[in-house]
Amino acid sequence: MQNLLLKNIKNLIGVYDQSPNKLSGADMKKLPCIENAWLACEAGKIVAFGSMDDFDGISDWKNLQVIDCSGKIVMPCFADSHTHLVYAGNREQEFVDRINGLSYEEIALRGGGIINSAMKLRACDEDDLFEQSKARLREVIEQGTGAIEIKSGYGLDLASELKMLRVIKRLKDLHWIPVKATFLGAHAVPPEFKNNKKGYIELLKNEMLPAIANENLADFIDVFCEQNYFTAEETEAILKAGAAHGLTAKVHAEQLSHSHGIQTAVACGAISVDHLEYCNDEDIQVLKASKTMPTVLPGAALFLGLPLPPARKMIDAGLPVAFASDYNPGSSPSGNMKLMMSLACIQYKLNPEEAINAVTLNSAYAMQLEHLVGSIAPGKLANIIITKEINSYGFLPYAFGSDLIDQVILNGKVWA
Ligand code: NIG
Ligand code: FE
Repeated sequence: MQNLLLKNIKNLIGVYDQSPNKLSGADMKKLPCIENAWLACEAGKIVAFGSMDDFDGISDWKNLQVIDCSGKIVMPCFADSHTHLVYAGNREQEFVDRINGLSYEEIALRGGGIINSAMKLRACDEDDLFEQSKARLREVIEQGTGAIEIKSGYGLDLASELKMLRVIKRLKDLHWIPVKATFLGAHAVPPEFKNNKKGYIELLKNEMLPAIANENLADFIDVFCEQNYFTAEETEAILKAGAAHGLTAKVHAEQLSHSHGIQTAVACGAISVDHLEYCNDEDIQVLKASKTMPTVLPGAALFLGLPLPPARKMIDAGLPVAFASDYNPGSSPSGNMKLMMSLACIQYKLNPEEAINAVTLNSAYAMQLEHLVGSIAPGKLANIIITKEINSYGFLPYAFGSDLIDQVILNGKVWA
């Protein structure tokens, strides 16, 4: 396997001899950097780094690729801890309907929204779904994503949920980037159970979960805890059933109303709670006593015109915060994590250091990948972004519409 040396790096950021697992409160402003740096990768991993002033060459390395990073910033790849990247077709018509005055809820109530995507996905064969999803994965990698979580939840019956999760498994088996799979059968109640939600939850617990566990298709279980979707009590029962099959919880919480998703998720030991538009002060206190990562999805809040989650308030209260894309056809048709980082600064008033930590280390933690990605540290995967020539890392969120990525390195190799 080829070894890689990056030299003359203008600024190597997010660098640690021993990386923390996540950064909370005032620590989110810390972004350790080495100016005029070098970075060495061996067998796909980061092995060493330092200042060019102390660099005495790696003469004994054979098969060494050297990249001159003069004027460029080198940083860990983005970790996108919340996506629905496996889906069939798109929902531009609902976009137009919303422009013309309908709300996301109104569209859902007349059979659009998640159910619209479910109908499209059920009609799509597995290979076609895989090809569509693979193209999206390639796109987000080119935009700097180096680890990703992908949810099911547009199948909503046994065969179609399995189809989605098998596609996620096939994406994982490409070994492009680490992929975590989340079972989101409780994303919506499908039309055939319209008047029998209890029956659907039974199906989910008694048939879907055992089949998924049997094929080892999921790492996490997620529930859309929201009015017209699943109540806090139903969420708890579903998360507990998932836990019995070894699945850690992640919850869609407080997106469209205050539905007690945060409290339920924390009580169930969730690794993350995501969305948080209606998160209140009491929820912030509950989160403070937990290991759960509050995760803001700025693409969805922007696209649906929702109130902004209190990210600044959470950090000021001492909490960690992650930002992720929520890439999906209904509420966030973008998986561009650099844009999410810009929104963190522009709309949520995070400083560039906080925003960078929110889309790398903290979002890696939110999918239990902080040991592997999210910072530059010995032993971590060499999944790295080399920027174009820019003045400072603050330019990355500042120039919110510019593609500033020159090269993406995955597993120590240049991604082409
Ligand atoms: O995270 N909130 C629920 N689920 C998705 C939206 C899904 C859809 O509209 O297709 C979300 O925003
Ligand atoms: Fe989501």
